[in-house]
Amino acid sequence: MSVRRVVIVGASVGGSRVASGLRQAGYTGSITLVDPDPDAPYDRPPLSKQILAGDWAPDRASLGSAGQWRAERHTAAAAALNPASRVLRLDTGDELEYDRLVLACGASPRTLPGMPRRGVHLLRTLADCHALRADLDRIGSGRLVVVGGGFIGAEVASTARSRGIGTTVVEALPAPLSGLLGEEVAAELALLHEDNGVRLLCGVSVAGLVGDPVVTGVALTDGRTLDADAVVVGIGVGPNTDWLAGSGVALDDDGGVLCDEYCAVDADHTVYAIGDVARCRDPLLRRHLRVEHWTNAVEQADAVVRGIVGPAPVAHRHAFFVWSDQYGGKITLLGRPDPGDDVTVVRGAGPLRRFAVAYRRGARLGAALTVNWPKALVAARRSLDAPSGADDVVAAWKNL
Ligand code: NAI
Repeated sequence: MSVRRVVIVGASVGGSRVASGLRQAGYTGSITLVDPDPDAPYDRPPLSKQILAGDWAPDRASLGSAGQWRAERHTAAAAALNPASRVLRLDTGDELEYDRLVLACGASPRTLPGMPRRGVHLLRTLADCHALRADLDRIGSGRLVVVGGGFIGAEVASTARSRGIGTTVVEALPAPLSGLLGEEVAAELALLHEDNGVRLLCGVSVAGLVGDPVVTGVALTDGRTLDADAVVVGIGVGPNTDWLAGSGVALDDDGGVLCDEYCAVDADHTVYAIGDVARCRDPLLRRHLRVEHWTNAVEQADAVVRGIVGPAPVAHRHAFFVWSDQYGGKITLLGRPDPGDDVTVVRGAGPLRRFAVAYRRGARLGAALTVNWPKALVAARRSLDAPSGADDVVAAWKNL
């Protein structure tokens, strides 16, 4: 069947990349983008960094426009799906027929009890970023409490410090990212916060928000209360899939859309899922993974474009690459650490804390973390998965 109508739910990096990729590949049929965010499409990485800091005007994060891709745009949310008749219903009541549907509808931040409340912020959208920036302006050099020391928490803390704001991060784990990196490495990475004057409280959670109607503090589960002029909550996200209930689309326990290694949801490859919302099968690991990072969304979008316009679908395997800009430096993670890996840490010289971590899987380099050390990342890329990659990369790092 020739494809004449592609509907894309979600106009963030994954969805907009499908739209642009289809046109680049010569697709001439219709493209319809659906997203309730009036500001979309824009890139999210600058929201916790350059735009929040005031270094970039918001339009620098633009990913393009529907018009540029000769696409129709609905500022609306998807409300229901009928895969049998290939019809997507929107919350405006509009119904869209499709030949191919791409679910790129992302995820929404988790909240704390007592939200919304003035002075308490999430950071997911451009509007959230504007609201937080205005509040950081309001509090001047006051006190910010960041709940969650993951990617949003760490980047917001870094930006807030650069603005001279007294910042405390509260993290439930023994160290931020300890589930991903292992406790020893995560503890070393956490020193970046202290190096930069951020107070980090680990192994403690939030009992409640204090102050009404405006937040004045955060009560912790260990009985302490932290005074706060503003609070940012970055405690993870959940897939935006409530609207798919009853559609027959298979979801995992977490609400992620289950799909195969082509990002296809159904055997006919009529419906695809990409980005934060998708739990795709990894052909090598032989299990399904949901990856909440930018490069994965981009790669999956490219795989779906190939699946829709040909010449032949390609199985997608995410090489796993994450970067985070914090305190004037860069953290990168290449490959996914495994709890069974042996860890070697190599420290470098320089004004910023600088180190690299090899996650050894036998003789191979299974994953590598680099902190403020771009040359170490280059060496790690060469060694990843090479037969004696672990020794090679450690030797290379020691000679840098
Ligand atoms: P996250 O999953 O990275 O981190 C959430 C953190 O909050 C975890 O460390 C968790 O242990 C902690 N936490 C959960 N409940 C808590 C509680 N009640 N009290 C204290 N700590 C608690 O999620 P985050 O930071 O909210 O980011 C949202 C999404 O945006 C993620 O998918 C993330 O990967 C993505 N993102 C990625 C970036 C990057 O790749 N550089 C930058 C910013 C966001």
